[in-house]
Amino acid sequence: MQHFLSLFDITPDELKRVLQTATVVKSKLIAGERPSILQNKVLALLFEKPSLRTRVSFETGMAQLGGASLFLGQDVGWGKREAPSDFTQVLGQFVDAVVCRAKQHSHVEQLASFDAMPVINGLTDLCHPCQAIADVLTIQEAFGSYAGKHLVFVGDGNNVAQSLALICAMLEMKFTLACPPGYEMDADWLSRIAAVSPRADINTTQDPVAAVKSADAIYTDVWTSMGQEAESIIRREAFADYQLNKTLLAAAPASARVLHCLPAVRGEEITDEVIDGKQSDIIRQAGNRMHAQKGLLVWLLGRDWICKNVS
Ligand code: CP
Ligand code: NVA
Repeated sequence: MQHFLSLFDITPDELKRVLQTATVVKSKLIAGERPSILQNKVLALLFEKPSLRTRVSFETGMAQLGGASLFLGQDVGWGKREAPSDFTQVLGQFVDAVVCRAKQHSHVEQLASFDAMPVINGLTDLCHPCQAIADVLTIQEAFGSYAGKHLVFVGDGNNVAQSLALICAMLEMKFTLACPPGYEMDADWLSRIAAVSPRADINTTQDPVAAVKSADAIYTDVWTSMGQEAESIIRREAFADYQLNKTLLAAAPASARVLHCLPAVRGEEITDEVIDGKQSDIIRQAGNRMHAQKGLLVWLLGRDWICKNVS
């Protein structure tokens, strides 16, 4: 069964197909067309952490594709009320796929292990693959193409950074992480990327100014991710020199675009003037979550449509 727990679950060609589908479906929406590609399909959303973008973009995307969605909060008792096998096999009889946002990546792996329905990762501590697809779509729109572009991530080598490093490797883009010592990406994750993409151009530096000098896009995310709240004071100190502010942006080419997955802590990892500035694509980037995920949903659940409608 095809799951989407991380970008490792699909090939670069499949990823390009998802991106092409997202672009076609977005153009159709702008032209006023909402083809019912997933009519009568039902998507469950099983979330252990809060969300605005991921939840609403999947729900609205599914509605626009003629399907339905079902948000499952804590009250369904996942992991608490019954055995995971019972929970998952029962859910799989009702829905066509599930998006899961989990505290630990092992939770989405366990959900997928029963092959009861395709499982889509809606963020874990390890990675955030749906976000990365939307981010590349945003870069493609900004520059006409993502090919050969240099994405510089200033901040924590977290779930978002890890998915971006992988997607850049898959699409032959250059990726640089500028972070303080101790906040690099997971070594096992990087080894896995190297194994599937031997030519990956992934760099880590402690110097954000040097890193952004050749950036096409500069990305940041919160210094303290969900679940790390106890470390927030120590992290604020560690990342103090890694704020994306107008001084750092001035070191980048004037053509560089600014990205952030949101939610942001304004005044911490990014300043108001940058987030709201002329180089920012952040709001459009959030909107692209829906378009990118529609591409993914159609690829997972309505592939015949792609064969007929996406060249
Ligand atoms: N970027 C993102 O995943 O946002 P939410 O946490 O609001 O879903
Ligand atoms: N790194 C952040 C991303 C939120 C979308 C977190 O995991 O909280």
